[in-house]
Amino acid sequence: MDFERELAEVEATFDQRLASAESDADVEKIRVAYVGRSGELTRMRRSIGKLPPEERPAAGQRINAVAERMELRLESALETLRARALERALSERVDATFPVPTRRGSIHPIRRTLEDICDFFERRGFAVVVGPEIETEYHAFDALNIPPNHPAREGFDTFYLPGGLLLRPHTSPMQVRTMQTHQPPLAIVTPGRCYRRDALDARHSFAFHQVEGLVVAEGVTMAHLKGMMEAMCRELFGPSQRVRFRPSYFPFTEPSAEVDTTCPGCHGLGCRTCSGSGWLEIGGSGMVHPNVFREVGYDPERVTGWAFGIGPERIAMVRHGIDDIRTFVENDPAFLQQF
Ligand code: PHE
Repeated sequence: MDFERELAEVEATFDQRLASAESDADVEKIRVAYVGRSGELTRMRRSIGKLPPEERPAAGQRINAVAERMELRLESALETLRARALERALSERVDATFPVPTRRGSIHPIRRTLEDICDFFERRGFAVVVGPEIETEYHAFDALNIPPNHPAREGFDTFYLPGGLLLRPHTSPMQVRTMQTHQPPLAIVTPGRCYRRDALDARHSFAFHQVEGLVVAEGVTMAHLKGMMEAMCRELFGPSQRVRFRPSYFPFTEPSAEVDTTCPGCHGLGCRTCSGSGWLEIGGSGMVHPNVFREVGYDPERVTGWAFGIGPERIAMVRHGIDDIRTFVENDPAFLQQF
């Protein structure tokens, strides 16, 4: 068979096979069989050597032309297949009214409480700032007037990391970071996760949240703090909430106070939630200690400030009547679906 006829035949069988290709894989097989490295065209190229020398260049050009046409047809075959598949998909009947069972997600009760607290303060002009959960001993303790060997360090039951780092046991380091980078007057809240080496039980967890608040300006007093705490509790729990301050001690505030609010379960009469006292502790607070101001370069003769740190887990438990802190992190859909 002469070269011309053989090449024409190769191209004709290629066209036939391609016309009956039904999938991308069929097309790929044809590509390999004809233009692939050991395909028909390669075989034809090898046979050029048998032709008289003067015919060889023209034969080579002819093969190249066939190869080009084949590539184009392979491409258009793939396109045709794609168009056909799309047509098929569109012509299939779809019942858009068929009910598909879906599970609606919801916001986690801790997240909701954090957002509600931040929202309350944002509406009053506070900025919401967040900071690192891995902190330095300096920001977590030293700058907060808790020197090394101070017994208060022990009270924080901290997870220590190598290199003077730790998992922050409270959000108070953000007081320091904010004051070091901003000048007074300032008002911030800073929500976030904290860690302590506490054994897990119904009321304690090694990972929990806090919302820290800090206000610094000229003429700021503890009355502002108490008013703010009371307004917050009224928004979170209801309009008849009261707040009381119990004397306390924190190295970074003076004076210091525990913040209690009337137990929303019994409105102060005494029940199981509040162990009969009628009050619930929601956090610690106080007037920023002059040593903390000095450490960040503020003048304690000129500005005063207050700070608080409250526990959203506690607040969420009371708001939703949850008696075990562990349920927040067990990821049980039956629990989470209630919110
Ligand atoms: N950081 C304190 C704690 O975790 C709470 C606190 C914050 C107290 C701010 C006073 C002022 O116990």
